[in-house]
Amino acid sequence: MLIKKIKLQDFRNYEELELEFNDNVNLILGQNAQGKTNLLESVYVTSMGKSFRTAKDSEMIRFGQEFGKVYVETLKDDFDGSVEIIFDKNSKKFVKVDGVKIKKTSQLLKNVYIVIFSPEDLKIVKDEPEKRRKFIDRELCQIRPSYYDNLSNYKKVLLQRNIYLKENSVDSAILDIWDMQLARYGAAIMHQRRNFTEKINKISCGIHANITDGHEKLKITYAPNIEFRDNLKEQEELFYEVIKKSCENDLRQRTTTKGPHKDDLEFFINDINVRSFGSQGQQRTAALSLKLAEISIIEEETGEKPVLLLDDVMSELDAGRQEFLIKSLADIQLFVTTTEIPEKLLSEFPSGNVYTVHGGTIEKSTY
Ligand SMILES: Nc1ncnc2c1ncn2[C@@H]1O[C@H](COP(=O)(O)OP(=O)(O)OP(=O)(O)O)[C@@H](O)[C@H]1O
Ligand SMILES: [Mg+2]
Repeated sequence: MLIKKIKLQDFRNYEELELEFNDNVNLILGQNAQGKTNLLESVYVTSMGKSFRTAKDSEMIRFGQEFGKVYVETLKDDFDGSVEIIFDKNSKKFVKVDGVKIKKTSQLLKNVYIVIFSPEDLKIVKDEPEKRRKFIDRELCQIRPSYYDNLSNYKKVLLQRNIYLKENSVDSAILDIWDMQLARYGAAIMHQRRNFTEKINKISCGIHANITDGHEKLKITYAPNIEFRDNLKEQEELFYEVIKKSCENDLRQRTTTKGPHKDDLEFFINDINVRSFGSQGQQRTAALSLKLAEISIIEEETGEKPVLLLDDVMSELDAGRQEFLIKSLADIQLFVTTTEIPEKLLSEFPSGNVYTVHGGTIEKSTY
Protein backbone atom coordinates (compact mmCIF):
# COMPACT_ATOMS: atom_id res chain seq x y z
CA MET A 1 0.00 0.00 0.00
CA LEU A 2 0.99 3.61 -0.40
CA ILE A 3 0.58 6.86 1.46
CA LYS A 4 0.09 9.33 -1.38
CA LYS A 5 -0.47 12.55 0.48
CA ILE A 6 -0.57 14.01 3.97
CA LYS A 7 -2.08 17.13 5.49
CA LEU A 8 -1.30 18.24 9.01
CA GLN A 9 -2.75 20.97 11.12
CA ASP A 10 -1.37 21.80 14.55
CA PHE A 11 0.27 18.42 14.84
CA ARG A 12 3.40 18.58 17.08
CA ASN A 13 5.61 21.36 15.66
CA TYR A 14 3.71 21.53 12.34
CA GLU A 15 1.25 24.38 12.17
CA GLU A 16 0.13 23.60 8.65
CA LEU A 17 1.59 21.11 6.21
CA GLU A 18 0.60 19.53 2.93
CA LEU A 19 2.87 17.04 1.15
CA GLU A 20 2.75 14.47 -1.59
CA PHE A 21 4.93 11.40 -1.23
CA ASN A 22 7.01 9.29 -3.55
CA ASP A 23 5.87 5.69 -4.11
CA ASN A 24 9.36 4.40 -3.27
CA VAL A 25 11.76 6.44 -1.20
CA ASN A 26 10.97 9.46 0.92
CA LEU A 27 14.07 10.79 2.57
CA ILE A 28 13.36 13.06 5.50
CA LEU A 29 16.45 15.07 6.08
CA GLY A 30 17.15 17.55 8.84
CA GLN A 31 19.08 18.50 11.93
CA ASN A 32 18.00 17.33 15.37
CA ALA A 33 14.69 18.53 16.83
CA GLN A 34 13.34 19.87 13.53
CA GLY A 35 10.31 17.57 13.14
CA LYS A 36 11.51 14.42 11.35
CA THR A 37 10.15 11.92 13.87
CA ASN A 38 7.05 14.09 14.27
CA LEU A 39 6.31 13.58 10.58
CA LEU A 40 6.72 9.80 10.88
CA GLU A 41 4.53 9.83 13.96
CA SER A 42 1.76 11.60 12.05
CA VAL A 43 1.88 8.93 9.35
CA TYR A 44 1.96 6.16 11.96
CA VAL A 45 -1.03 7.51 13.85
CA THR A 46 -3.30 6.84 10.87
CA SER A 47 -2.75 3.08 11.16
CA MET A 48 -3.64 2.59 14.83
CA GLY A 49 -5.14 5.88 15.94
CA LYS A 50 -2.32 6.01 18.48
CA SER A 51 1.26 7.19 18.62
CA PHE A 52 4.26 4.92 19.03
CA ARG A 53 5.83 7.52 21.33
CA THR A 54 3.13 8.47 23.76
CA ALA A 55 -0.04 7.06 25.27
CA LYS A 56 -1.40 10.59 25.59
CA ASP A 57 -3.05 11.75 22.38
CA SER A 58 -3.11 15.34 23.56
CA GLU A 59 0.71 15.50 23.46
CA MET A 60 0.47 15.42 19.68
CA ILE A 61 -1.54 18.65 19.55
CA ARG A 62 0.68 21.63 18.86
CA PHE A 63 1.54 23.50 22.05
CA GLY A 64 -1.09 26.09 22.92
CA GLN A 65 -3.73 24.67 20.54
CA GLU A 66 -7.02 22.89 21.25
CA PHE A 67 -7.07 20.57 18.22
CA GLY A 68 -4.58 18.76 16.05
CA LYS A 69 -5.38 17.12 12.74
CA VAL A 70 -3.84 14.46 10.49
CA TYR A 71 -5.26 13.54 7.10
CA VAL A 72 -3.75 11.02 4.69
CA GLU A 73 -4.72 9.81 1.26
CA THR A 74 -3.82 6.20 0.54
CA LEU A 75 -3.74 3.74 -2.31
CA LYS A 76 -4.51 0.17 -1.38
CA ASP A 77 -5.36 -2.71 -3.62
CA ASP A 78 -5.75 -0.13 -6.43
CA PHE A 79 -8.38 1.78 -4.46
CA ASP A 80 -8.04 5.30 -3.13
CA GLY A 81 -8.72 5.75 0.54
CA SER A 82 -8.39 8.36 3.23
CA VAL A 83 -8.06 8.57 6.98
CA GLU A 84 -8.63 11.69 9.02
CA ILE A 85 -8.03 12.01 12.73
CA ILE A 86 -8.77 15.06 14.82
CA PHE A 87 -7.28 15.11 18.30
CA ASP A 88 -9.18 17.25 20.73
CA LYS A 89 -7.63 18.40 23.99
CA ASN A 90 -10.94 18.19 25.83
CA SER A 91 -12.67 15.29 24.24
CA LYS A 92 -12.28 11.96 22.46
CA LYS A 93 -10.56 11.87 19.10
CA PHE A 94 -12.67 12.07 15.97
CA VAL A 95 -11.84 9.58 13.22
CA LYS A 96 -13.07 9.39 9.65
CA VAL A 97 -12.28 6.60 7.21
CA ASP A 98 -13.01 7.40 3.56
CA GLY A 99 -14.95 10.41 4.73
CA VAL A 100 -17.20 8.46 7.10
CA LYS A 101 -17.01 8.90 10.85
CA ILE A 102 -16.24 5.68 12.72
CA LYS A 103 -17.36 4.78 16.22
CA LYS A 104 -14.75 2.26 17.38
CA THR A 105 -10.99 2.39 16.91
CA SER A 106 -11.03 -1.22 15.74
CA GLN A 107 -12.85 0.05 12.62
CA LEU A 108 -9.83 2.18 11.82
CA LEU A 109 -7.54 -0.83 11.68
CA LYS A 110 -6.99 -2.60 8.38
CA ASN A 111 -6.87 0.69 6.51
CA VAL A 112 -3.25 1.73 6.80
CA TYR A 113 -0.50 -0.80 7.43
CA ILE A 114 2.69 0.54 8.93
CA VAL A 115 5.88 -0.96 10.24
CA ILE A 116 8.13 1.35 12.17
CA PHE A 117 11.75 0.61 12.86
CA SER A 118 13.79 2.80 15.18
CA PRO A 119 16.98 2.33 17.22
CA GLU A 120 14.77 1.36 20.19
CA ASP A 121 13.60 -1.71 18.27
CA LEU A 122 17.16 -2.98 17.99
CA LYS A 123 17.05 -3.47 21.76
CA ILE A 124 13.85 -5.48 21.77
CA VAL A 125 15.55 -8.77 22.62
CA LYS A 126 17.38 -7.30 25.61
CA ASP A 127 14.63 -4.99 26.83
CA GLU A 128 12.08 -5.73 29.51
CA PRO A 129 9.16 -8.08 28.62
CA GLU A 130 6.73 -5.19 28.32
CA LYS A 131 8.46 -4.04 25.12
CA ARG A 132 8.02 -7.48 23.57
CA ARG A 133 4.36 -7.61 24.58
CA LYS A 134 3.90 -4.20 22.98
CA PHE A 135 5.48 -5.52 19.82
CA ILE A 136 3.05 -8.45 19.60
CA ASP A 137 0.10 -6.24 20.49
CA ARG A 138 0.92 -3.60 17.92
CA GLU A 139 1.41 -6.18 15.24
CA LEU A 140 -1.64 -8.29 16.00
CA CYS A 141 -3.88 -5.25 16.30
CA GLN A 142 -2.98 -4.28 12.75
CA ILE A 143 -3.78 -7.64 11.23
CA ARG A 144 -6.60 -8.78 13.56
CA PRO A 145 -9.18 -6.25 14.69
CA SER A 146 -10.66 -9.03 16.87
CA TYR A 147 -7.37 -9.03 18.79
CA TYR A 148 -7.70 -5.31 19.34
CA ASP A 149 -11.15 -5.87 20.84
CA ASN A 150 -9.99 -8.78 23.03
CA LEU A 151 -7.03 -6.80 24.25
CA SER A 152 -8.93 -3.64 25.07
CA ASN A 153 -11.63 -5.66 26.84
CA TYR A 154 -8.99 -7.58 28.79
CA LYS A 155 -7.27 -4.35 29.80
CA LYS A 156 -10.56 -2.83 30.93
CA VAL A 157 -11.45 -5.86 33.06
CA LEU A 158 -7.92 -6.04 34.45
CA LEU A 159 -8.05 -2.40 35.48
CA GLN A 160 -11.46 -2.86 37.17
CA ARG A 161 -10.29 -5.99 38.95
CA ASN A 162 -7.14 -4.26 40.16
CA ILE A 163 -9.13 -1.29 41.46
CA TYR A 164 -11.49 -3.69 43.23
CA LEU A 165 -8.58 -5.60 44.81
CA LYS A 166 -7.48 -2.38 46.46
CA GLU A 167 -10.78 -1.97 48.32
CA ASN A 168 -10.95 -2.77 52.02
CA SER A 169 -13.51 -5.51 51.81
CA VAL A 170 -13.75 -7.73 48.76
CA ASP A 171 -16.85 -9.75 47.90
CA SER A 172 -15.84 -12.98 46.21
CA ALA A 173 -19.02 -13.07 44.10
CA ILE A 174 -18.16 -9.71 42.57
CA LEU A 175 -14.57 -10.72 42.04
CA ASP A 176 -15.85 -13.82 40.28
CA ILE A 177 -17.54 -11.65 37.64
CA TRP A 178 -14.20 -10.07 36.79
CA ASP A 179 -12.48 -13.46 36.89
CA MET A 180 -14.81 -15.02 34.36
CA GLN A 181 -14.35 -12.16 31.93
CA LEU A 182 -10.62 -12.10 32.46
CA ALA A 183 -10.46 -15.81 31.63
CA ARG A 184 -12.54 -15.37 28.50
CA TYR A 185 -10.59 -12.47 26.97
CA GLY A 186 -7.27 -13.69 28.36
CA ALA A 187 -7.58 -17.14 26.82
CA ALA A 188 -8.44 -15.61 23.43
CA ILE A 189 -5.41 -13.32 23.63
CA MET A 190 -3.14 -16.24 24.50
CA HIS A 191 -4.33 -18.23 21.50
CA GLN A 192 -3.86 -15.34 19.10
CA ARG A 193 -0.42 -14.59 20.53
CA ARG A 194 0.71 -18.18 20.25
CA ASN A 195 -0.51 -18.45 16.68
CA PHE A 196 1.22 -15.19 15.75
CA THR A 197 4.49 -16.22 17.41
CA GLU A 198 4.57 -19.45 15.42
CA LYS A 199 4.20 -17.49 12.19
CA ILE A 200 6.74 -14.84 13.04
CA ASN A 201 9.15 -17.54 14.19
CA LYS A 202 9.00 -19.33 10.87
CA ILE A 203 9.58 -16.19 8.83
CA SER A 204 12.28 -14.60 10.99
CA CYS A 205 14.17 -17.88 11.19
CA GLY A 206 14.59 -17.85 7.39
CA ILE A 207 15.60 -14.19 7.34
CA HIS A 208 18.09 -14.66 10.17
CA ALA A 209 19.69 -17.61 8.40
CA ASN A 210 20.13 -15.39 5.33
CA ILE A 211 21.73 -12.54 7.22
CA THR A 212 24.16 -14.89 8.96
CA ASP A 213 24.93 -17.03 5.90
CA GLY A 214 23.29 -20.00 7.55
CA HIS A 215 25.52 -19.93 10.64
CA GLU A 216 22.78 -19.08 13.10
CA LYS A 217 19.40 -20.66 13.64
CA LEU A 218 16.99 -18.26 15.29
CA LYS A 219 14.00 -19.51 17.20
CA ILE A 220 11.30 -17.33 18.74
CA THR A 221 8.86 -18.87 21.17
CA TYR A 222 5.83 -17.70 23.06
CA ALA A 223 6.36 -17.77 26.82
CA PRO A 224 2.89 -17.45 28.32
CA ASN A 225 2.44 -16.65 31.98
CA ILE A 226 -0.36 -19.18 32.25
CA GLU A 227 0.26 -22.64 30.83
CA PHE A 228 -0.83 -22.99 27.21
CA ARG A 229 -3.65 -25.34 26.11
CA ASP A 230 -4.39 -26.02 22.44
CA ASN A 231 -8.11 -26.06 23.01
CA LEU A 232 -9.58 -22.61 23.62
CA LYS A 233 -12.32 -23.82 25.96
CA GLU A 234 -9.77 -25.73 28.04
CA GLN A 235 -7.55 -22.67 28.02
CA GLU A 236 -10.34 -20.56 29.42
CA GLU A 237 -11.07 -23.14 32.12
CA LEU A 238 -7.43 -23.41 33.10
CA PHE A 239 -7.10 -19.63 33.13
CA TYR A 240 -10.09 -19.38 35.47
CA GLU A 241 -8.63 -22.06 37.74
CA VAL A 242 -5.25 -20.33 37.90
CA ILE A 243 -6.86 -16.97 38.68
CA LYS A 244 -8.89 -18.58 41.45
CA LYS A 245 -5.81 -20.20 42.93
CA SER A 246 -3.87 -16.96 42.88
CA CYS A 247 -6.75 -15.03 44.44
CA GLU A 248 -5.26 -15.02 47.93
CA ASN A 249 -1.96 -13.81 46.61
CA ASP A 250 -3.72 -11.17 44.48
CA LEU A 251 -5.59 -9.92 47.54
CA ARG A 252 -2.36 -9.66 49.47
CA GLN A 253 -0.57 -7.85 46.66
CA ARG A 254 -3.72 -5.94 45.71
CA THR A 255 -3.17 -6.58 42.04
CA THR A 256 -3.72 -9.31 39.43
CA THR A 257 -0.55 -11.38 39.42
CA LYS A 258 -1.40 -13.92 36.70
CA GLY A 259 -2.34 -13.51 33.06
CA PRO A 260 -1.15 -12.46 29.61
CA HIS A 261 -0.15 -9.03 30.94
CA LYS A 262 2.88 -11.01 32.19
CA ASP A 263 3.60 -12.91 28.94
CA ASP A 264 6.89 -12.80 27.12
CA LEU A 265 8.66 -13.86 23.94
CA GLU A 266 11.88 -15.83 24.07
CA PHE A 267 14.68 -15.71 21.51
CA PHE A 268 17.16 -18.51 20.93
CA ILE A 269 20.12 -18.70 18.56
CA ASN A 270 21.41 -22.22 18.00
CA ASP A 271 19.34 -23.16 21.08
CA ILE A 272 21.05 -20.63 23.33
CA ASN A 273 18.94 -17.96 25.00
CA VAL A 274 19.89 -14.73 23.22
CA ARG A 275 18.59 -12.44 25.92
CA SER A 276 20.88 -13.93 28.57
CA PHE A 277 23.81 -15.19 26.55
CA GLY A 278 23.74 -13.61 23.08
CA SER A 279 26.29 -11.02 22.00
CA GLN A 280 25.04 -7.51 21.28
CA GLY A 281 25.50 -8.19 17.57
CA GLN A 282 23.39 -11.34 17.76
CA GLN A 283 20.68 -9.50 19.65
CA ARG A 284 20.60 -6.77 17.03
CA THR A 285 20.55 -9.23 14.15
CA ALA A 286 17.68 -11.10 15.79
CA ALA A 287 15.83 -7.79 16.15
CA LEU A 288 16.43 -6.96 12.49
CA SER A 289 15.14 -10.41 11.47
CA LEU A 290 12.06 -9.85 13.60
CA LYS A 291 11.36 -6.47 12.01
CA LEU A 292 11.75 -7.79 8.49
CA ALA A 293 9.49 -10.71 9.38
CA GLU A 294 6.92 -8.19 10.55
CA ILE A 295 6.77 -6.77 7.03
CA SER A 296 6.30 -10.23 5.49
CA ILE A 297 3.64 -11.25 7.94
CA ILE A 298 1.53 -8.17 7.20
CA GLU A 299 1.84 -8.85 3.51
CA GLU A 300 0.95 -12.50 3.98
CA GLU A 301 -2.05 -11.76 6.15
CA THR A 302 -3.45 -8.76 4.32
CA GLY A 303 -2.15 -9.04 0.76
CA GLU A 304 -0.69 -5.53 1.15
CA LYS A 305 2.88 -4.47 1.63
CA PRO A 306 3.03 -2.18 4.64
CA VAL A 307 4.64 1.23 4.55
CA LEU A 308 8.00 1.16 6.32
CA LEU A 309 9.13 4.00 8.55
CA LEU A 310 12.84 3.94 9.35
CA ASP A 311 13.57 6.44 12.08
CA ASP A 312 17.32 7.07 12.41
CA VAL A 313 18.00 3.40 12.07
CA MET A 314 20.43 3.28 9.15
CA SER A 315 23.30 4.80 11.05
CA GLU A 316 22.78 2.24 13.82
CA LEU A 317 23.45 -0.72 11.55
CA ASP A 318 26.83 -1.88 10.32
CA ALA A 319 27.53 -2.04 6.57
CA GLY A 320 26.50 -5.69 6.16
CA ARG A 321 23.20 -5.33 7.97
CA GLN A 322 22.46 -2.02 6.21
CA GLU A 323 22.93 -3.71 2.89
CA PHE A 324 20.69 -6.62 3.85
CA LEU A 325 17.99 -4.27 5.04
CA ILE A 326 18.08 -2.16 1.89
CA LYS A 327 18.01 -5.23 -0.36
CA SER A 328 14.92 -6.50 1.44
CA LEU A 329 13.02 -3.33 0.77
CA ALA A 330 12.29 -3.41 -2.94
CA ASP A 331 8.66 -2.54 -3.84
CA ILE A 332 7.90 -1.08 -0.48
CA GLN A 333 7.20 2.55 0.28
CA LEU A 334 9.88 3.89 2.55
CA PHE A 335 10.09 6.88 4.83
CA VAL A 336 13.62 7.32 6.08
CA THR A 337 14.64 10.00 8.54
CA THR A 338 18.26 10.94 8.68
CA THR A 339 20.60 13.77 9.51
CA GLU A 340 22.98 12.74 6.72
CA ILE A 341 22.31 11.36 3.25
CA PRO A 342 22.55 7.54 3.32
CA GLU A 343 24.68 6.87 0.22
CA LYS A 344 23.95 3.14 0.09
CA LEU A 345 20.22 3.71 0.02
CA LEU A 346 20.49 6.28 -2.75
CA SER A 347 22.61 4.01 -4.92
CA GLU A 348 20.14 1.15 -4.50
CA PHE A 349 17.07 3.33 -5.16
CA PRO A 350 18.03 5.77 -7.90
CA SER A 351 15.06 8.12 -7.60
CA GLY A 352 13.10 9.39 -4.68
CA ASN A 353 11.96 12.49 -2.88
CA VAL A 354 13.92 14.48 -0.35
CA TYR A 355 12.12 16.48 2.31
CA THR A 356 14.29 18.96 4.08
CA VAL A 357 12.82 19.62 7.50
CA HIS A 358 13.48 22.82 9.36
CA GLY A 359 11.56 23.91 12.44
CA GLY A 360 8.23 22.42 11.40
CA THR A 361 8.44 23.46 7.74
CA ILE A 362 9.35 21.13 4.89
CA GLU A 363 10.86 21.75 1.48
CA LYS A 364 10.47 19.04 -1.10
CA SER A 365 12.93 18.14 -3.84
CA THR A 366 13.92 15.05 -5.82
CA TYR A 367 17.27 13.40 -6.27
N1 LIG B 1 3.03 19.12 20.91
C1 LIG B 1 4.05 19.81 20.39
N2 LIG B 1 3.86 21.06 19.94
C2 LIG B 1 4.88 21.78 19.41
N3 LIG B 1 6.12 21.31 19.29
C3 LIG B 1 6.38 20.07 19.72
C4 LIG B 1 5.35 19.25 20.27
N4 LIG B 1 5.88 18.05 20.63
C5 LIG B 1 7.18 18.13 20.29
N5 LIG B 1 7.48 19.33 19.73
C6 LIG B 1 8.79 19.80 19.26
O1 LIG B 1 9.20 19.02 18.16
C7 LIG B 1 10.62 18.96 18.15
C8 LIG B 1 11.12 17.53 18.02
O2 LIG B 1 10.74 17.04 16.83
P1 LIG B 1 11.22 15.60 16.39
O3 LIG B 1 11.16 14.64 17.49
O4 LIG B 1 10.43 15.29 15.16
O5 LIG B 1 12.74 15.90 16.03
P2 LIG B 1 13.68 15.15 15.01
O6 LIG B 1 13.81 16.01 13.80
O7 LIG B 1 13.23 13.77 14.81
O8 LIG B 1 15.05 15.21 15.81
P3 LIG B 1 16.15 14.07 16.10
O9 LIG B 1 17.05 14.08 14.92
O10 LIG B 1 16.82 14.58 17.31
O11 LIG B 1 15.45 12.78 16.31
C9 LIG B 1 11.12 19.47 19.47
O12 LIG B 1 11.76 20.69 19.25
C10 LIG B 1 9.87 19.61 20.31
O13 LIG B 1 9.92 20.71 21.16
MG1 LIG C 1 13.85 11.94 15.60
